[in-house]
Amino acid sequence: MTVPSAAPAQPEDPRKPRHIAIVMDGNGRWAQRRGRPRTFGHRAGAKAVRLCVRGCLEHGIHALTLFAFSSENWKRPQEEVGTLMKLFLRSLDREVDELHEHGVRLRFIGERGLLAAPIQQRMHAAERRTAGNRALNLTIAISYGGRWDIAQAARQLALAAVEGRIQPAAIDEAALAAHMQLADLPAPDLFIRTGGDHRISNFLLWQLAYTELWFTDTLWPDFDAAELARALADYAARERRYGLTGEQVERPRKGASA
Ligand code: FPP
Repeated sequence: MTVPSAAPAQPEDPRKPRHIAIVMDGNGRWAQRRGRPRTFGHRAGAKAVRLCVRGCLEHGIHALTLFAFSSENWKRPQEEVGTLMKLFLRSLDREVDELHEHGVRLRFIGERGLLAAPIQQRMHAAERRTAGNRALNLTIAISYGGRWDIAQAARQLALAAVEGRIQPAAIDEAALAAHMQLADLPAPDLFIRTGGDHRISNFLLWQLAYTELWFTDTLWPDFDAAELARALADYAARERRYGLTGEQVERPRKGASA
């Protein structure tokens, strides 16, 4: 029996993550500690997003995926949802030029149909405009849930089977993976969550199967270059085994000749 390997092809530098996924938590607490409304924290969070993108460009990271708004966040107080939507719209208007200048390819994942038409239009325009960029693949998850992602992939395959385009027996891990959002990117190597909680919160459930997890108490608006460097240093020291033994995956030590 051939068992498929969970490990991706060996990256250029195995000590550096090609793809980082981040749950940006703690905006509300950051604001409350300053006696300000939660929305103040989200605005500060948007500034931290800029710093993080800059840091990833400097470190030569291939892909960065940020969880900006979950399927569940729609149930937050109306005022907070409204402020976040305005912030997304304003960020799209203000940031796309600079992202484009820096060679960033911008994409969005999630249930777009739930978003207001002007946001959908800006998202589409930003994706088209930056489609040829290669310096960094920046994906923003808005109205996104990991369970929704798996369900939408399964629905596409079910439809293909009903229409006779594929056999049900062909529905395997590879077929599902090919229909998930982010199918064209390597799975995240490093997952970062700020804000002190240790959970995945319905982010990229399928894609995080073998991702290295890193948690920090730092609240998202305080996440800076030094904190990113800490996460990267921790990742560099990890051994990724994908279910194999340490001997099977041992990577060349620094300075070794082969
Ligand atoms: C979680 O903190 C954060 C969010 C639900 C929103 C994330 C949004 C941003 C960082 C702003 C801008 C983003 C982009 C892409 C322009 P929380 O509100 O749950 O904080 P808490 O845990 O302290 O309550």
